[in-house]
Amino acid sequence: MTGEIITLKVGQCGNQVGREFWSQLAKEHGIGKDGLSLVEESPTIIREDNPLTFFKQNDSNRYTPRALLFDLEPSIINDIRSNFPGFFNDRNVWVSQDNLGAGNTWSTGYDYGTENQDQFINMIDREIDATENFEGFQLIHSVAGGTGSGLGSNLLELLADSYHKKLVTTYSVFPSNESEVVVQPYNTMLTLRRLIEDSDASVVFDNNALSNITARVLRDSNISYAQSNQVISTVMSCITNSVRLPSYMFSSLPSIFSTIVPTPSMHFLVPSFSSFTTDFVPESKNIKRSTAYDVILDLFDHNNSMVTHSSDEPVYIAIYDLLQGYIQQSDITRAILKTQKRVQFAPWSKSSLHVNIGKKSSFNQSPNSDYVSGLMLSNSTAINSLLKKTCHSFDTIYNRGAFLHKFQNGRVFENGWDEFKESREVVQSVIEEYAYAAQDSYVDDILLDDNVLMGNDDASMNIQDDDNII
Ligand code: GTP
Repeated sequence: MTGEIITLKVGQCGNQVGREFWSQLAKEHGIGKDGLSLVEESPTIIREDNPLTFFKQNDSNRYTPRALLFDLEPSIINDIRSNFPGFFNDRNVWVSQDNLGAGNTWSTGYDYGTENQDQFINMIDREIDATENFEGFQLIHSVAGGTGSGLGSNLLELLADSYHKKLVTTYSVFPSNESEVVVQPYNTMLTLRRLIEDSDASVVFDNNALSNITARVLRDSNISYAQSNQVISTVMSCITNSVRLPSYMFSSLPSIFSTIVPTPSMHFLVPSFSSFTTDFVPESKNIKRSTAYDVILDLFDHNNSMVTHSSDEPVYIAIYDLLQGYIQQSDITRAILKTQKRVQFAPWSKSSLHVNIGKKSSFNQSPNSDYVSGLMLSNSTAINSLLKKTCHSFDTIYNRGAFLHKFQNGRVFENGWDEFKESREVVQSVIEEYAYAAQDSYVDDILLDDNVLMGNDDASMNIQDDDNII
Protein backbone atom coordinates (compact mmCIF):
# COMPACT_ATOMS: atom_id res chain seq x y z
CA MET A 1 0.00 0.00 0.00
CA THR A 2 1.12 3.59 -0.71
CA GLY A 3 2.46 5.13 2.47
CA GLU A 4 0.27 7.38 4.56
CA ILE A 5 0.76 11.14 4.71
CA ILE A 6 -0.03 13.24 7.79
CA THR A 7 -1.03 16.86 7.18
CA LEU A 8 -0.26 19.64 9.69
CA LYS A 9 -2.31 22.81 9.28
CA VAL A 10 -0.98 25.81 11.14
CA GLY A 11 -2.49 29.26 11.74
CA GLN A 12 -5.35 30.99 9.95
CA CYS A 13 -4.08 30.51 6.41
CA GLY A 14 -2.96 26.90 7.04
CA ASN A 15 -6.32 25.91 8.46
CA GLN A 16 -8.37 27.75 5.83
CA VAL A 17 -6.39 26.28 2.93
CA GLY A 18 -6.58 22.90 4.68
CA ARG A 19 -10.35 23.17 4.85
CA GLU A 20 -10.56 23.52 1.04
CA PHE A 21 -8.04 20.72 0.54
CA TRP A 22 -10.03 18.26 2.66
CA SER A 23 -13.31 19.30 1.02
CA GLN A 24 -11.76 18.55 -2.38
CA LEU A 25 -10.33 15.22 -1.21
CA ALA A 26 -13.66 14.23 0.35
CA LYS A 27 -15.42 14.98 -2.97
CA GLU A 28 -12.85 12.98 -4.95
CA HIS A 29 -13.16 9.96 -2.63
CA GLY A 30 -16.95 9.97 -2.24
CA ILE A 31 -16.84 10.96 1.42
CA GLY A 32 -19.51 13.16 3.01
CA LYS A 33 -18.95 16.25 5.18
CA ASP A 34 -19.51 14.04 8.21
CA GLY A 35 -16.78 11.60 7.13
CA LEU A 36 -19.24 8.87 6.11
CA SER A 37 -18.65 7.07 2.84
CA LEU A 38 -21.23 7.99 0.21
CA VAL A 39 -20.78 4.64 -1.50
CA GLU A 40 -21.66 1.26 -0.17
CA GLU A 41 -18.56 -0.49 1.10
CA SER A 42 -18.14 -4.11 1.98
CA PRO A 43 -15.33 -6.64 1.91
CA THR A 44 -16.49 -7.69 -1.58
CA ILE A 45 -16.57 -4.20 -3.05
CA ILE A 46 -13.09 -2.89 -3.67
CA ARG A 47 -12.61 0.81 -4.28
CA GLU A 48 -10.50 1.85 -7.28
CA ASP A 49 -9.30 4.88 -5.38
CA ASN A 50 -7.14 4.84 -2.29
CA PRO A 51 -8.53 7.17 0.40
CA LEU A 52 -6.33 5.63 3.08
CA THR A 53 -3.23 7.66 2.18
CA PHE A 54 -4.91 10.73 3.63
CA PHE A 55 -7.80 9.29 5.68
CA LYS A 56 -8.17 6.73 8.46
CA GLN A 57 -11.19 4.46 8.25
CA ASN A 58 -13.02 3.09 11.25
CA ASP A 59 -15.34 0.09 11.55
CA SER A 60 -18.48 2.06 10.85
CA ASN A 61 -17.24 3.28 7.46
CA ARG A 62 -16.33 6.70 8.74
CA TYR A 63 -13.24 8.35 7.25
CA THR A 64 -11.21 10.78 9.36
CA PRO A 65 -8.48 12.98 7.88
CA ARG A 66 -4.93 12.16 8.95
CA ALA A 67 -4.68 15.83 9.87
CA LEU A 68 -3.44 17.83 12.86
CA LEU A 69 -4.80 21.34 13.35
CA PHE A 70 -2.82 24.01 15.23
CA ASP A 71 -3.68 27.61 16.05
CA LEU A 72 -3.05 30.17 18.74
CA GLU A 73 -6.62 31.44 18.71
CA PRO A 74 -9.80 29.41 18.26
CA SER A 75 -12.02 31.26 15.76
CA ILE A 76 -10.95 29.61 12.47
CA ILE A 77 -10.77 26.10 13.90
CA ASN A 78 -14.17 26.55 15.62
CA ASP A 79 -15.63 27.69 12.34
CA ILE A 80 -14.22 24.64 10.55
CA ARG A 81 -15.54 22.31 13.23
CA SER A 82 -19.03 23.78 13.07
CA ASN A 83 -19.09 23.44 9.27
CA PHE A 84 -17.69 19.90 9.29
CA PRO A 85 -19.10 18.40 12.50
CA GLY A 86 -17.41 15.12 13.33
CA PHE A 87 -15.12 15.26 10.30
CA PHE A 88 -11.83 16.04 12.05
CA ASN A 89 -10.60 14.13 15.08
CA ASP A 90 -11.03 16.41 18.13
CA ARG A 91 -7.92 14.92 19.71
CA ASN A 92 -5.91 16.21 16.74
CA VAL A 93 -6.75 19.84 17.42
CA TRP A 94 -4.41 22.05 19.42
CA VAL A 95 -5.46 25.61 20.26
CA SER A 96 -3.51 27.68 22.76
CA GLN A 97 -5.34 28.26 26.05
CA ASP A 98 -4.31 31.93 25.89
CA ASN A 99 -6.49 32.57 22.80
CA LEU A 100 -4.33 35.53 21.81
CA GLY A 101 -2.91 34.60 18.42
CA ALA A 102 0.73 35.37 17.70
CA GLY A 103 0.15 39.05 16.90
CA ASN A 104 1.91 38.60 13.55
CA THR A 105 5.18 37.94 15.36
CA TRP A 106 7.25 34.92 14.35
CA SER A 107 9.01 34.60 17.71
CA THR A 108 5.71 34.44 19.62
CA GLY A 109 4.54 31.54 17.48
CA TYR A 110 7.95 29.88 17.67
CA ASP A 111 8.09 30.08 21.49
CA TYR A 112 4.62 28.53 21.83
CA GLY A 113 6.01 25.65 19.79
CA THR A 114 8.98 25.17 22.10
CA GLU A 115 6.79 25.26 25.22
CA ASN A 116 4.38 22.67 23.89
CA GLN A 117 6.72 20.32 22.05
CA ASP A 118 6.01 17.28 24.22
CA GLN A 119 2.31 17.60 23.59
CA PHE A 120 2.90 17.96 19.85
CA ILE A 121 5.10 14.88 19.76
CA ASN A 122 2.34 12.92 21.51
CA MET A 123 -0.22 14.08 18.97
CA ILE A 124 2.06 13.22 16.03
CA ASP A 125 3.07 9.83 17.47
CA ARG A 126 -0.57 8.91 18.10
CA GLU A 127 -1.37 9.69 14.47
CA ILE A 128 1.66 7.71 13.25
CA ASP A 129 0.50 4.75 15.36
CA ALA A 130 -2.64 4.67 13.21
CA THR A 131 -0.63 4.09 10.01
CA GLU A 132 0.75 0.90 8.46
CA ASN A 133 3.44 2.30 6.20
CA PHE A 134 3.96 5.89 7.28
CA GLU A 135 5.55 7.97 4.51
CA GLY A 136 5.79 11.55 5.67
CA PHE A 137 4.29 14.92 6.51
CA GLN A 138 2.94 17.92 4.67
CA LEU A 139 2.58 21.26 6.40
CA ILE A 140 0.24 24.05 5.23
CA HIS A 141 0.86 27.61 6.44
CA SER A 142 1.53 31.20 5.50
CA VAL A 143 5.00 32.60 6.02
CA ALA A 144 3.90 36.14 6.87
CA GLY A 145 1.76 36.03 10.06
CA GLY A 146 3.00 34.85 13.46
CA THR A 147 1.47 31.40 13.93
CA GLY A 148 1.87 29.75 10.53
CA SER A 149 5.37 31.18 10.28
CA GLY A 150 6.67 30.88 13.87
CA LEU A 151 4.83 27.83 15.16
CA GLY A 152 5.13 26.36 11.66
CA SER A 153 8.93 26.85 11.80
CA ASN A 154 9.10 25.21 15.19
CA LEU A 155 7.08 22.23 13.94
CA LEU A 156 9.37 21.90 10.90
CA GLU A 157 12.40 21.72 13.21
CA LEU A 158 10.60 19.16 15.34
CA LEU A 159 9.75 16.98 12.32
CA ALA A 160 13.32 17.19 11.00
CA ASP A 161 14.83 16.33 14.41
CA SER A 162 12.44 13.64 15.58
CA TYR A 163 11.35 11.97 12.31
CA HIS A 164 14.35 12.72 10.14
CA LYS A 165 14.01 9.81 7.70
CA LYS A 166 10.50 10.85 6.73
CA LEU A 167 9.52 13.11 3.85
CA VAL A 168 8.59 16.65 4.92
CA THR A 169 6.92 18.89 2.34
CA THR A 170 5.28 22.27 2.76
CA TYR A 171 2.62 24.31 1.02
CA SER A 172 3.77 27.81 1.85
CA VAL A 173 1.77 30.96 1.08
CA PHE A 174 3.81 34.16 0.63
CA PRO A 175 2.26 37.60 1.12
CA SER A 176 1.07 39.86 -1.67
CA ASN A 177 3.09 42.87 -2.78
CA GLU A 178 1.31 45.25 -0.46
CA SER A 179 2.82 44.64 2.94
CA GLU A 180 -0.17 43.99 5.22
CA VAL A 181 1.96 43.96 8.35
CA VAL A 182 5.22 45.88 8.80
CA VAL A 183 7.17 42.95 10.26
CA GLN A 184 6.11 40.59 7.49
CA PRO A 185 9.64 40.55 5.95
CA TYR A 186 11.11 39.46 9.31
CA ASN A 187 8.59 36.63 9.67
CA THR A 188 9.15 35.54 6.08
CA MET A 189 12.97 35.55 6.38
CA LEU A 190 13.00 33.51 9.61
CA THR A 191 10.54 31.01 8.14
CA LEU A 192 12.46 30.71 4.87
CA ARG A 193 15.47 29.50 6.84
CA ARG A 194 13.38 26.58 8.22
CA LEU A 195 11.89 25.84 4.81
CA ILE A 196 15.43 25.59 3.44
CA GLU A 197 16.93 23.59 6.29
CA ASP A 198 14.06 21.45 7.52
CA SER A 199 11.84 20.61 4.57
CA ASP A 200 12.50 18.31 1.60
CA ALA A 201 10.29 20.22 -0.82
CA SER A 202 8.29 23.45 -0.57
CA VAL A 203 5.47 24.26 -2.96
CA VAL A 204 5.15 28.04 -2.94
CA PHE A 205 2.34 30.43 -3.77
CA ASP A 206 2.10 34.18 -3.52
CA ASN A 207 -1.15 35.90 -2.74
CA ASN A 208 -0.66 38.39 -5.55
CA ALA A 209 -0.44 35.73 -8.24
CA LEU A 210 -3.27 33.77 -6.58
CA SER A 211 -5.58 36.82 -6.61
CA ASN A 212 -4.88 37.47 -10.30
CA ILE A 213 -5.49 33.86 -11.27
CA THR A 214 -8.63 33.57 -9.15
CA ALA A 215 -10.10 36.81 -10.53
CA ARG A 216 -9.48 35.51 -14.05
CA VAL A 217 -10.90 32.06 -13.38
CA LEU A 218 -14.05 33.49 -11.81
CA ARG A 219 -14.23 36.56 -14.08
CA ASP A 220 -14.78 38.60 -10.96
CA SER A 221 -12.37 40.99 -9.29
CA ASN A 222 -14.09 40.65 -5.89
CA ILE A 223 -12.50 37.49 -4.66
CA SER A 224 -12.09 36.07 -1.17
CA TYR A 225 -9.53 33.82 0.47
CA ALA A 226 -11.97 30.92 0.18
CA GLN A 227 -11.76 31.20 -3.60
CA SER A 228 -7.97 31.60 -3.72
CA ASN A 229 -7.78 28.59 -1.45
CA GLN A 230 -9.70 26.51 -4.00
CA VAL A 231 -6.89 27.30 -6.42
CA ILE A 232 -4.30 26.11 -3.88
CA SER A 233 -6.32 22.99 -3.12
CA THR A 234 -6.51 22.22 -6.85
CA VAL A 235 -2.71 22.12 -6.88
CA MET A 236 -2.62 19.92 -3.78
CA SER A 237 -5.22 17.58 -5.23
CA CYS A 238 -3.23 17.22 -8.48
CA ILE A 239 0.13 16.67 -6.79
CA THR A 240 -1.40 13.84 -4.79
CA ASN A 241 -3.54 12.50 -7.66
CA SER A 242 -1.41 9.52 -8.65
CA VAL A 243 -0.96 8.61 -4.98
CA ARG A 244 -4.69 8.62 -4.20
CA LEU A 245 -5.99 7.27 -7.52
CA PRO A 246 -3.18 4.80 -7.94
CA SER A 247 -1.29 4.48 -11.17
CA TYR A 248 1.92 2.75 -12.22
CA MET A 249 3.93 5.91 -12.28
CA PHE A 250 4.64 8.33 -9.45
CA SER A 251 2.59 6.37 -6.95
CA SER A 252 4.30 7.93 -3.93
CA LEU A 253 5.07 11.52 -2.98
CA PRO A 254 8.83 10.84 -2.60
CA SER A 255 8.92 9.55 -6.19
CA ILE A 256 7.38 12.82 -7.43
CA PHE A 257 9.50 15.21 -5.39
CA SER A 258 12.80 13.37 -5.86
CA THR A 259 12.32 13.67 -9.63
CA ILE A 260 12.36 17.46 -9.52
CA VAL A 261 14.55 18.24 -6.50
CA PRO A 262 18.22 17.82 -7.49
CA THR A 263 19.90 18.99 -4.26
CA PRO A 264 18.56 19.40 -0.71
CA SER A 265 18.41 23.19 -0.78
CA MET A 266 17.12 23.69 -4.34
CA HIS A 267 13.69 22.44 -3.40
CA PHE A 268 11.38 25.40 -4.08
CA LEU A 269 8.65 24.40 -6.50
CA VAL A 270 6.38 26.81 -8.32
CA PRO A 271 2.96 25.55 -9.45
CA SER A 272 1.07 26.62 -12.59
CA PHE A 273 -2.35 25.39 -13.66
CA SER A 274 -4.53 25.49 -16.77
CA SER A 275 -7.48 25.35 -17.04
CA PHE A 276 -9.65 25.17 -13.92
CA THR A 277 -12.53 22.82 -14.68
CA THR A 278 -15.59 22.90 -12.44
CA ASP A 279 -14.57 19.69 -10.66
CA PHE A 280 -11.82 21.82 -9.07
CA VAL A 281 -13.37 25.30 -8.91
CA PRO A 282 -17.17 24.92 -9.09
CA GLU A 283 -17.76 28.59 -10.08
CA SER A 284 -15.06 28.54 -12.76
CA LYS A 285 -16.00 30.58 -15.85
CA ASN A 286 -12.78 30.44 -17.81
CA ILE A 287 -12.74 26.85 -19.02
CA LYS A 288 -11.07 26.08 -22.31
CA ARG A 289 -11.33 22.86 -24.27
CA SER A 290 -7.71 22.28 -25.26
CA THR A 291 -5.42 19.47 -26.26
CA ALA A 292 -2.62 18.15 -24.05
CA TYR A 293 -0.21 19.88 -26.44
CA ASP A 294 -1.83 23.28 -25.80
CA VAL A 295 -2.04 22.75 -22.05
CA ILE A 296 1.61 21.74 -21.64
CA LEU A 297 2.74 24.86 -23.49
CA ASP A 298 0.16 27.10 -21.81
CA LEU A 299 1.56 26.14 -18.41
CA PHE A 300 4.72 28.14 -19.24
CA ASP A 301 2.65 31.33 -19.58
CA HIS A 302 3.62 33.55 -16.63
CA ASN A 303 -0.04 34.42 -16.09
CA ASN A 304 -0.68 30.81 -15.05
CA SER A 305 2.10 30.77 -12.47
CA MET A 306 1.17 30.92 -8.79
CA VAL A 307 4.29 32.92 -8.01
CA THR A 308 4.70 36.37 -9.55
CA HIS A 309 7.51 36.34 -12.10
CA SER A 310 10.08 38.99 -12.88
CA SER A 311 10.39 39.78 -16.56
CA ASP A 312 13.46 37.52 -16.89
CA GLU A 313 12.83 34.15 -18.51
CA PRO A 314 13.57 31.44 -15.97
CA VAL A 315 16.08 28.67 -16.46
CA TYR A 316 14.35 25.38 -15.69
CA ILE A 317 16.04 22.69 -13.64
CA ALA A 318 13.22 20.15 -13.64
CA ILE A 319 9.49 20.04 -14.32
CA TYR A 320 6.72 17.64 -13.33
CA ASP A 321 3.40 17.84 -15.19
CA LEU A 322 0.22 16.08 -14.17
CA LEU A 323 -2.40 16.02 -16.90
CA GLN A 324 -6.00 14.93 -16.59
CA GLY A 325 -8.89 14.54 -19.04
CA TYR A 326 -8.95 13.18 -22.57
CA ILE A 327 -5.30 12.91 -23.56
CA GLN A 328 -3.54 11.76 -26.73
CA GLN A 329 -0.03 10.45 -26.14
CA SER A 330 1.16 11.97 -29.43
CA ASP A 331 0.22 15.46 -28.17
CA ILE A 332 2.47 14.94 -25.15
CA THR A 333 5.40 13.87 -27.30
CA ARG A 334 4.97 16.88 -29.62
CA ALA A 335 4.71 19.23 -26.66
CA ILE A 336 7.87 17.86 -25.03
CA LEU A 337 9.81 18.37 -28.28
CA LYS A 338 8.44 21.91 -28.65
CA THR A 339 9.25 22.73 -25.02
CA GLN A 340 12.82 21.61 -25.43
CA LYS A 341 13.23 24.09 -28.27
CA ARG A 342 11.30 26.95 -26.72
CA VAL A 343 12.17 26.84 -23.04
CA GLN A 344 15.58 27.26 -21.47
CA PHE A 345 16.69 24.31 -19.35
CA ALA A 346 19.88 24.28 -17.25
CA PRO A 347 22.69 22.96 -19.46
CA TRP A 348 23.10 19.85 -17.30
CA SER A 349 19.38 19.16 -17.17
CA LYS A 350 18.31 19.34 -20.80
CA SER A 351 15.25 17.12 -20.93
CA SER A 352 13.85 17.26 -17.45
CA LEU A 353 10.17 17.50 -18.30
CA HIS A 354 8.34 14.58 -16.71
CA VAL A 355 4.72 14.04 -17.65
CA ASN A 356 2.31 11.93 -15.67
CA ILE A 357 -1.26 11.20 -16.71
CA GLY A 358 -3.61 11.36 -13.75
CA LYS A 359 -7.05 9.88 -13.26
CA LYS A 360 -10.28 11.77 -12.71
CA SER A 361 -12.23 10.68 -9.70
CA SER A 362 -15.41 8.80 -10.57
CA PHE A 363 -17.11 10.46 -7.58
CA ASN A 364 -16.43 14.00 -8.75
CA GLN A 365 -17.55 14.26 -12.34
CA SER A 366 -18.58 17.58 -13.85
CA PRO A 367 -19.81 18.40 -17.39
CA ASN A 368 -16.27 19.42 -18.34
CA SER A 369 -14.43 16.57 -16.61
CA ASP A 370 -13.05 15.24 -19.89
CA TYR A 371 -11.47 18.62 -20.77
CA VAL A 372 -7.71 18.49 -20.49
CA SER A 373 -6.33 20.28 -17.46
CA GLY A 374 -2.76 20.34 -16.27
CA LEU A 375 -0.61 21.12 -13.28
CA MET A 376 3.02 22.09 -13.78
CA LEU A 377 5.36 21.95 -10.81
CA SER A 378 8.59 23.58 -11.82
CA ASN A 379 11.96 23.94 -10.17
CA SER A 380 13.57 26.96 -11.80
CA THR A 381 15.49 30.17 -11.27
CA ALA A 382 12.09 31.97 -11.20
CA ILE A 383 12.06 31.40 -7.44
CA ASN A 384 14.91 33.90 -7.14
CA SER A 385 12.60 36.85 -7.83
CA LEU A 386 10.51 35.90 -4.75
CA LEU A 387 13.61 35.26 -2.62
CA LYS A 388 15.31 38.48 -3.73
CA LYS A 389 12.15 40.51 -3.12
CA THR A 390 11.98 39.08 0.41
CA CYS A 391 15.65 39.92 1.01
CA HIS A 392 15.16 43.45 -0.27
CA SER A 393 12.14 44.10 2.03
CA PHE A 394 14.02 42.52 4.92
CA ASP A 395 17.19 44.59 4.35
CA THR A 396 15.17 47.79 4.14
CA ILE A 397 13.79 47.46 7.66
CA TYR A 398 16.58 45.45 9.30
CA ASN A 399 19.35 47.85 8.25
CA ARG A 400 17.48 50.61 10.09
CA GLY A 401 16.79 48.43 13.11
CA ALA A 402 13.09 49.07 12.54
CA PHE A 403 10.43 47.25 14.60
CA LEU A 404 12.95 44.89 16.19
CA HIS A 405 11.39 45.49 19.61
CA LYS A 406 8.52 43.17 18.63
CA PHE A 407 11.00 40.28 18.65
CA GLN A 408 13.10 41.17 21.68
CA ASN A 409 11.32 38.78 24.05
CA GLY A 410 11.75 35.85 21.70
CA ARG A 411 13.99 33.14 23.11
CA VAL A 412 16.10 32.84 19.97
CA PHE A 413 16.93 36.54 20.35
CA GLU A 414 18.01 36.36 23.99
CA ASN A 415 21.64 36.90 23.01
CA GLY A 416 21.21 39.34 20.14
CA TRP A 417 20.00 39.42 16.57
CA ASP A 418 22.27 36.73 15.08
CA GLU A 419 19.29 34.63 14.11
CA PHE A 420 18.23 37.33 11.63
CA LYS A 421 21.73 37.60 10.16
CA GLU A 422 22.11 33.84 9.83
CA SER A 423 18.69 33.44 8.22
CA ARG A 424 19.54 36.15 5.70
CA GLU A 425 22.80 34.33 4.86
CA VAL A 426 21.03 31.00 4.44
CA VAL A 427 18.52 32.54 2.01
CA GLN A 428 21.32 34.31 0.12
CA SER A 429 23.14 31.01 -0.34
CA VAL A 430 20.05 29.48 -1.95
CA ILE A 431 19.68 32.46 -4.30
CA GLU A 432 23.31 31.95 -5.32
CA GLU A 433 22.88 28.21 -5.75
CA TYR A 434 19.91 28.71 -8.10
CA ALA A 435 21.86 31.30 -10.11
CA TYR A 436 24.87 28.98 -10.29
CA ALA A 437 22.69 26.01 -11.27
CA ALA A 438 21.88 27.80 -14.52
CA GLN A 439 25.53 27.51 -15.58
CA ASP A 440 27.44 24.73 -17.35
CA SER A 441 30.06 24.26 -14.67
CA TYR A 442 27.51 23.67 -11.89
CA VAL A 443 27.20 19.93 -12.15
CA ASP A 444 30.97 19.30 -12.42
CA ASP A 445 31.58 21.16 -9.19
CA ILE A 446 28.65 19.52 -7.43
CA LEU A 447 29.77 16.04 -8.43
CA LEU A 448 33.00 16.64 -6.54
CA ASP A 449 30.88 16.93 -3.42
CA ASP A 450 29.14 13.55 -3.51
CA ASN A 451 27.01 14.11 -0.44
CA VAL A 452 25.02 16.87 -2.05
CA LEU A 453 23.16 15.22 -4.89
CA MET A 454 19.84 13.59 -4.15
CA GLY A 455 20.14 9.84 -4.08
CA ASN A 456 23.14 9.78 -1.79
CA ASP A 457 22.91 8.65 1.82
CA ASP A 458 20.97 10.90 4.15
CA ALA A 459 20.30 13.46 1.47
CA SER A 460 18.07 11.05 -0.42
CA MET A 461 14.34 10.77 -0.17
CA ASN A 462 12.76 7.43 0.35
CA ILE A 463 12.17 6.60 -3.33
CA GLN A 464 9.98 3.64 -4.18
CA ASP A 465 9.44 4.08 -7.91
CA ASP A 466 12.50 4.95 -9.90
CA ASP A 467 11.49 3.73 -13.34
CA ASN A 468 8.78 6.25 -13.81
CA ILE A 469 10.07 8.93 -16.11
CA ILE A 470 8.59 9.65 -19.50
P1 GTP B 1 -1.28 35.29 13.69
O1 GTP B 1 -2.48 35.93 13.03
O2 GTP B 1 -0.18 36.24 13.93
O3 GTP B 1 -1.61 34.47 14.90
O4 GTP B 1 -0.66 34.26 12.60
P2 GTP B 1 -1.34 33.38 11.46
O5 GTP B 1 -0.29 32.47 10.94
O6 GTP B 1 -2.60 32.76 11.94
O7 GTP B 1 -1.66 34.46 10.36
P3 GTP B 1 -2.19 34.25 8.91
O8 GTP B 1 -2.24 32.81 8.53
O9 GTP B 1 -3.44 35.05 8.79
O10 GTP B 1 -1.01 34.91 8.05
C1 GTP B 1 -1.07 36.19 7.46
C2 GTP B 1 -0.74 36.05 5.98
O11 GTP B 1 -1.50 34.98 5.45
C3 GTP B 1 -1.13 37.27 5.17
O12 GTP B 1 -0.19 37.39 4.10
C4 GTP B 1 -2.50 36.93 4.63
O13 GTP B 1 -2.77 37.57 3.43
C5 GTP B 1 -2.38 35.43 4.42
N1 GTP B 1 -3.63 34.68 4.60
C6 GTP B 1 -4.40 34.59 5.73
N2 GTP B 1 -5.43 33.73 5.53
C7 GTP B 1 -5.31 33.27 4.27
C8 GTP B 1 -6.06 32.34 3.48
O14 GTP B 1 -7.04 31.74 3.90
N3 GTP B 1 -5.60 32.11 2.21
C9 GTP B 1 -4.52 32.75 1.68
N4 GTP B 1 -4.19 32.46 0.42
N5 GTP B 1 -3.78 33.62 2.40
C10 GTP B 1 -4.16 33.87 3.68
